[in-house]
Amino acid sequence: MKIVVFFSGTGTNLESILREQKNYDYEVIGAFTNNPNAKGIEICDKYETECKIIDHKDFNSREDFDKNISIFLDQINPDYIILAGYMRIISKSLVDDWEGQIINIHPSLLPKYPGLDTHKKALQAKDKMHGTTIHYVISELDAGPIIRQESFEIELNDTIESLTNKVKEIENKIYPETISNLI
Ligand code: GRF
Repeated sequence: MKIVVFFSGTGTNLESILREQKNYDYEVIGAFTNNPNAKGIEICDKYETECKIIDHKDFNSREDFDKNISIFLDQINPDYIILAGYMRIISKSLVDDWEGQIINIHPSLLPKYPGLDTHKKALQAKDKMHGTTIHYVISELDAGPIIRQESFEIELNDTIESLTNKVKEIENKIYPETISNLI
């Protein structure tokens, strides 16, 4: 199974997916970022994985930007597109073209807290539990069918930073395994 990983930032999930591919049934055939300064680009170099960079700021519309992503995807033709901290909304036409083949990981127990600032929202709501969700991408934001969720108890001294780290630690463990089980 061939996958391409989309990211915009730090890339801890990207790294765990690249590192674990030797243990699982998938092959990372490429990576993509919209952010020329993303730390994840160095991680791609480390794992000798080609990273396509297209800066969304060079385009006037989401559709024009996504058209260029389409061309890239048609060239490499992956089985799955794995979003790992990819911070752009994907246009409906691109989602439709790859229906059922785009997977995302979101740092909340969906349907709670789609969108940004999930750790802050969980703390503000004094939630007892927090976690992460792996789901299929549909054109509605963070709303596609859920593949897997993992949760943990929020402790009294948790902060946005500690929740970010706890969630990422779980994500880095379960994302490679879940991708492998997609077949
Ligand atoms: C993760 O927490 C993921 O759930 C969210 O963005 C974060 C990306 O982190 N979509 P990283 O870049 O993989 O470290």
